Amino acid sequence: MAELAELVGVLKAAGEGTRLRLLALLAGGDHSVKDLTEILDQSQPRVSRHLKLLADAGLVQRNAEGAWAYYGLAQDGEAGAVAQWLVGRVDHTDPERVRDCERQAEVRAAQQAQAAHYFAKVAGSWDLLKTLHVPEDAVESAVLGGFQGGPVELLLDLGTGTGRMLQLLADRYKRGIGVDSSREMLSVARARLGSAGVTHAQVRLGDMAELDPALGPADAIVIHQVLHYFDDPGRMLMGARELLKPGGQMVIVDFAPHELEFLRTEHAHRRLGLSQAQMSGWAASAGLQVQTVREFPSDNGDRGLTVCLWRLCA
Ligand SMILES: C[S@@+](CC[C@H](N)C(=O)[O-])C[C@H]1O[C@@H](n2cnc3c(N)ncnc32)[C@H](O)[C@@H]1O
Repeated sequence: MAELAELVGVLKAAGEGTRLRLLALLAGGDHSVKDLTEILDQSQPRVSRHLKLLADAGLVQRNAEGAWAYYGLAQDGEAGAVAQWLVGRVDHTDPERVRDCERQAEVRAAQQAQAAHYFAKVAGSWDLLKTLHVPEDAVESAVLGGFQGGPVELLLDLGTGTGRMLQLLADRYKRGIGVDSSREMLSVARARLGSAGVTHAQVRLGDMAELDPALGPADAIVIHQVLHYFDDPGRMLMGARELLKPGGQMVIVDFAPHELEFLRTEHAHRRLGLSQAQMSGWAASAGLQVQTVREFPSDNGDRGLTVCLWRLCA
């Protein structure tokens, strides 16, 4: 129960047109201030002021990441409950809301296009590029360890890239499907899987933000070094969860929080790593339990990155 004054503060913060629009937008996934400025077509100081009021009231959560800050709808507490209740009552056919959703989709599409452009450029050299960051061997053996037991019927590799996970886990599934939005990555993946003799895996063009339900239900899902390319990894997790069977396993590998801003400016990253608290929150919202977490510190000094592996189950 909240004190009266506190509740009035929460209601005052939410009781304004732009702020209500912001809550409804953030219910659809995390965004940076820059995105929200573009979507609402209002000045950055104005949007930041609204977001500060919402954050001070506990209606939204703010996560600072390097030079950017991301906002998401609060999941906990009295204010979180108010935020959830309010967005559940917004009429999605309201013309202003329809326009906001259209702009939100445009902003996301532009970001995806940027990432796709980057991956089209690096597809041929990706396997070399990725070993520059991380203790690859240790991470790969932990991924293998994350999928124990006999081969599962169906494994999905979301953001498959060059198909490395499908190749690594080839004896852990009877049928494997890799999904990626980059044609260039997929053509490298097809060639690699073909020459490795992995004939029980296929790769397909697809967008993680709009996964085809016909891909599931899967016994296991792997998402290796993909979530940091999205503003709202929680939304991607929710989409992936819908393809997982009850009791199914998911392994996520990504970076721990870091401050290497150049990965954003030069390598299309959006999130500067994912924290344990963020992952627990996103997993819980998606109906997944975090079973184990392992960390792999970099072997590359202060330019290095720590890699995390989360094992989740549905
Ligand atoms: C860093 S690579 C990782 C590839 C692979 N999982 C691995 O670890 O080798 C990220 C991959 O995510 C893919 N990707 C980015 N945005 C995507 C989206 N919206 N839908 C599907 N794949 C996406 C990229 O094309 C790229 O192949």
